[in-house]
Amino acid sequence: MMNVNICVGSSCHIKGSHDIIQLAKEAITKYNLEDKINLSAAFCLGKCTDGVSIKVNDEIICGVSKENFPDFFQSNILSKLQ
Ligand code: FES
Repeated sequence: MMNVNICVGSSCHIKGSHDIIQLAKEAITKYNLEDKINLSAAFCLGKCTDGVSIKVNDEIICGVSKENFPDFFQSNILSKLQ
């Protein structure tokens, strides 16, 4: 099971973490990953100046936006599940 924690701390919230959660849910459904990914919200991951921050297992990826979400998902989630 891969753990994906999307930061909903105040700084990331302002930068659109709610939209990112929505995109993540849609992508998980699209690729049938419900039983492979444990998606949850996280409080501040300590990288506020560079949000939206997302923790994938033990790695924190910063600067995720609606625009680059597909790239993030491809390189940090899909490619690591294969
Ligand atoms: S609020 Fe997201 S890293 Fe601090």
